[in-house]
Amino acid sequence: MDKARIAVLVSGGGTNLQALINAQNKGIISSGQIALVISNNPNAFALKRAAKAGIPTAVITKSELGSQQAFEERIKKELQSYQIDLIVLAGFMSILSKNFTADFPERIVNVHPSLIPAFCGKGYYGLRVHEEALKYGVTVTGATVHFVNEIPDGGRIILQKAVKIKEGDTPEILQKRVMKQAEWKILPEAVEQVSKKLMNNRKVVLR
Ligand code: GRF
Repeated sequence: MDKARIAVLVSGGGTNLQALINAQNKGIISSGQIALVISNNPNAFALKRAAKAGIPTAVITKSELGSQQAFEERIKKELQSYQIDLIVLAGFMSILSKNFTADFPERIVNVHPSLIPAFCGKGYYGLRVHEEALKYGVTVTGATVHFVNEIPDGGRIILQKAVKIKEGDTPEILQKRVMKQAEWKILPEAVEQVSKKLMNNRKVVLR
């Protein structure tokens, strides 16, 4: 059976990328295949994880290319040359413009470390999300996998999972719990779900 060709875009440690690689190895992701990893940070540890798994990598930086437009055009070229069907943002620390997202409607997914619509949107990334959740005093937070459109964290929700906040939590402790209990589970599940749909739709077109 044909598999959806997946590109994972990263900037940092790549634990979510690792969760995707592990899920692929275990067969949790069976309708898709990670064909490419793109990083906008040449020092991202995620690149090492990809190399270890034998996945081709590309480093594309905005500073080298000079503008957001040139940066996005370069990413698009890379995606085309690997015939990518689905783009996964896994800790990718650059907001993609409408110019880019409009070319891939419901073909870009992102994982966000809160229950959208809480603690999301512009400026809500990394530890800040968890700091704000603790500051507000919510007793439950979590993670969301959603499609990406021109509104930061604003695309259609695919999967969400709740995580309890515990007494004495710091943003760092909470960040780890949200990753372990939610992000690393729902991201692979959502990627399988979307890949499967893409492949089924493709069959319908070919028939
Ligand atoms: C995760 O918390 C993810 O939700 C956010 O960035 C972080 C990336 O971590 N978008 P990693 O690079 O996958 O380890």
